[in-house]
Amino acid sequence: MTDHKIPLAGVIGSPIAHSKSPALHGHWLKTYGLKGAYIPMDVTDSNLEEVIRMLPKMGFVGVNITIPHKVAALWIADQMTDRATLIGAANTLIFRRDGKIHADNTDGYGFIANLKQGAPGWQPASGAAVVLGAGGAARAVIASLIEAGTTRIILTNRTRLKAEGLKSEFGSKVEVVDWVQAGNVLEEATTVINTTSLGMTGAPEFRVPLDGLRPGTVVTDIVYTPLKTRLLQEAEQAGCITVDGLGMLLHQAVPAFERWFGVRPEVDVNTRSAVLG
Ligand code: ATR
Repeated sequence: MTDHKIPLAGVIGSPIAHSKSPALHGHWLKTYGLKGAYIPMDVTDSNLEEVIRMLPKMGFVGVNITIPHKVAALWIADQMTDRATLIGAANTLIFRRDGKIHADNTDGYGFIANLKQGAPGWQPASGAAVVLGAGGAARAVIASLIEAGTTRIILTNRTRLKAEGLKSEFGSKVEVVDWVQAGNVLEEATTVINTTSLGMTGAPEFRVPLDGLRPGTVVTDIVYTPLKTRLLQEAEQAGCITVDGLGMLLHQAVPAFERWFGVRPEVDVNTRSAVLG
């Protein structure tokens, strides 16, 4: 990047008005006194590729990609990292100086970094992880748990077939149990992760029975509206170590911000307040 150019970045999704990423990157740009701007862009499926190919010509150094474009963006890119390939979706595009579009997925990184910050004693290999849900977020979570050293993942999803699909991709470290059994496997877990949308404001309630949770289990939820979901509230009452989902969003942005703007940002209380408004 040359000195006289202002690096631009942003997030592409649809809808995009509620994205917290502009506040997050805006906060870091201000905190570190950097030149740059980060813009939310509402783009339809049919315009996605054209828009992405146009952005580098306008001074963009990269973009984040969110729902519903994460899978399509991976295929528009010229190159992809191993972790993006494994997850099958991109949340970050980097526009390289040679004109190539490079796709990455930092969701799994964000998930692990959040757990390490929120539960400093967390040991990924200490026992089984129970993963609730088998959508896109579960893919990133499972891939990163395996990479971090977890050897047993108990996966449960309302639609069992989707969980079986992930097992066939990730292999024998993943065991599938029926959704109705979700409450019964919690006592085997040292880590529990909700990757479903249950419990999110406006979504159906999270109703998995939680009496099997043991004290000391690390429990996290990717839902962060509300910040303290029913899962996290009950886990806290059961003596578990709880980590809310906002941190995953904040941490996943760190590698991209560093790449685009040249400074590795801190995720701290000020970052959280800036994003929570
Ligand atoms: P994401 O990519 O963000 O993970 P997704 O692919 O739509 O989103 O996945 C949402 C997850 O929430 C899925 O595991 C989904 O279960 P199904 O595969 O059976 O659809 C789960 N989910 C959504 N609504 C649910 C509900 N009412 N009860 C149980 N699980 C639900």
